[in-house]
Amino acid sequence: MKIKKLMTALLATFLVMHGGLQGQVSKKENPQMEKRIQKLISKMTLKEKTGLLHGNSKFFVSGVSRLGIPEWSLSDGPHGVRAEINRHDWGYSNWTTDSATYFPTGTAFAAAWNPELARRRGEVLGEEARFRKKDVLLGPGVNIIRSPLGGRNFEYMSEDPYLNARLAVPYIQGLQSRDVAASVKHYLANNQETNRTTVDVLMSERALREIYLPAFKAAVEEGGSYTIMNAYNKFRGDWCSENTYINRTLLRDEMGFKGVTMTDWGGAHSTVKAALAGLDLEMGTMVDDYNQWYFANPLIEAVKSGAVPESIVDEKVANVLRVMIQTNVLDPKKRFNKASMNTPEHQQAAYQSAVESIVLLKNENNLLPLDVNKINSIAVLGDNATRLHANGGLSSEIKALYEITPLQGIQNKLGDRIKINYAQGYEKLSTFVEGSNNGQNPGNFKGGGELDKAVLKEAVETARKSDIAIIYAGLNHDYDTESSDKQGYALPYGQVQLIQEVCKVNPRTIVVIIAGSPVDMAAIDICAPAVVWGWFNGMEAGNAITDVLTGKETPTGKMPFSVPVSLDQSPAHAYNNFPGQDLVVRYDEDILVGYRWFDTKKLPVVYPFGYGLSYTSFEFGQMNTDKTEYTVNDSIEVSFTLKNTGLRKGAEVAQLYVSDPVCSVMRPAKELKAFEKVFLNPGETKEVILKVPVGSFAFWSEAENKFVVEPGEFILSLATSAQDIKQTLRIQVK
Ligand code: BGC
Repeated sequence: MKIKKLMTALLATFLVMHGGLQGQVSKKENPQMEKRIQKLISKMTLKEKTGLLHGNSKFFVSGVSRLGIPEWSLSDGPHGVRAEINRHDWGYSNWTTDSATYFPTGTAFAAAWNPELARRRGEVLGEEARFRKKDVLLGPGVNIIRSPLGGRNFEYMSEDPYLNARLAVPYIQGLQSRDVAASVKHYLANNQETNRTTVDVLMSERALREIYLPAFKAAVEEGGSYTIMNAYNKFRGDWCSENTYINRTLLRDEMGFKGVTMTDWGGAHSTVKAALAGLDLEMGTMVDDYNQWYFANPLIEAVKSGAVPESIVDEKVANVLRVMIQTNVLDPKKRFNKASMNTPEHQQAAYQSAVESIVLLKNENNLLPLDVNKINSIAVLGDNATRLHANGGLSSEIKALYEITPLQGIQNKLGDRIKINYAQGYEKLSTFVEGSNNGQNPGNFKGGGELDKAVLKEAVETARKSDIAIIYAGLNHDYDTESSDKQGYALPYGQVQLIQEVCKVNPRTIVVIIAGSPVDMAAIDICAPAVVWGWFNGMEAGNAITDVLTGKETPTGKMPFSVPVSLDQSPAHAYNNFPGQDLVVRYDEDILVGYRWFDTKKLPVVYPFGYGLSYTSFEFGQMNTDKTEYTVNDSIEVSFTLKNTGLRKGAEVAQLYVSDPVCSVMRPAKELKAFEKVFLNPGETKEVILKVPVGSFAFWSEAENKFVVEPGEFILSLATSAQDIKQTLRIQVK
């Protein structure tokens, strides 16, 4: 008995030291940790307390050194640890030790549909953040891709809340396993950049619960995200940073969040209202004197006047200290233990993520993979063949240790055997000055545009004299960027014309799209025999795309968003409610976002959600369920075999969609409820079991103000994209 008690005491001490299980937020209170927090708070002056609740520079928060609380260090961003920024302005500190691993950006990473890669990414980011002495990394971004024009689509993940959630959770767990707190962002409804600091987002409770909230909820409840960043915009009339409904009711009361809510940089608007609404940490306010920030002297005064009870301040300080303890910030011996930077393993993780994100969209006559033994020359065309992307997009920019461009990739790997003929093909006419989060709007670049005749001619001639032509087209971070939305859906700089002209002279033309959001592909898909989506694909982009095009690697990526035929067919634009009017945006399309809209309205798309081809082929065996009748609390086991029937190693992403054919409310035609990326050698067969909780079939009932599963029949569709359904099964819910 004594031994048992001793073991319990030892475990309790261990948990206090470590703040609970590493990388997880224990739902249970940790009384010893809470005691330690209260003891620290009892020793603090009000000034010291408020010091923990606002920035003292661009990315730091004051500690209380006499109590062993160090300065807290935060950093961007979701696909790499950002270069060191000056303490008091947005300039770079020009360090020589802050070049980092640069991962594929959000949509690219989502296109891999691989939660294990997400976890690995988190781990690497955590190690590099620790190397840079950062305690909090400002990511991942999990907002929904609502419109193709959204400037930050490239930083987010997909149009589907389930896919977002499944990737955000392991990312956060991986990051936090390295003692770095995640800051899932931007909570809530930051789905456009136009008027992002003033626009009021209005959506139904159902759209909130079914589409815009789930990834945040999973990030908090399953991922255990230690912090969350409020969005700039308003939500139902109140700025997110002072919105009681989202920060208290949903986050703390419903989700049980015990971590830190912070503003986006410059996203605070009040002292008393924000303090009462549940904001903990004010960052980035554009007032030089930090003492004048909302949560500095004004908060002290609000406490003195009784407008804000001191217990509210204590609650916030406790939230900060809790995260600090959980990430070893208060333990100098352990704080930076898990640090490493730019290791070969980190670069391998970036490479693997890049390879798995690449999506093969069209491959007429098996033009791909290229048989390099039968090719003497390749024309490499397009501005994106040589453009670096790491240092763009504003706050998620990375000072990459290196970035292999597509041209470098192909030259390095094939240059000794094959003649590589490069021509720019089109010019980047936009002129946004990249580098540094200075809030500058890159301007109203529209799509389309004229080609310079000489530039076009050179490219066409280069394509004509080469065996193969590869055009690296798409966007860059003048378009896919924080702080402004795209002004049009068409590809800019006259690229479509370039592609059409090149296709005319070289029937073996491959178009590789480098972009982080949907672009108008209709004309390109018609003329190009092979189309590949290559993304802003991180530091290994050029190696990865070359290896996929030449068949060293088989493409396994799947589109994380639909590519509409035209902008006016996409839901927000069909309702003409992007980016809103008079600083209000109403999400009239409601829950019909992305494929939910296209499927339900039976609208064709150029490329559906979940779509992507391979160099090998797969065959599904018969789909079965463990039972035919279920209750709401059951989990359905959906089983089937998947066989690689081709000659190459590859992977298929088995996707399970669910439909509710008879329901008292409108339901989307189908919704993704499970998926698994299955890797198979040639000839190999695997048994796959997907576990799907019946509870996930629920819809948000506005009448009952809760999630409801109506009994009856549901249809399960096993698919390889939202439009390629292989088998269906019907089950009953009692
Ligand atoms: C962005 C955030 C970012 C912050 C700090 C803001 O402009 O919206 O995503 O983390 O700046 O750079």
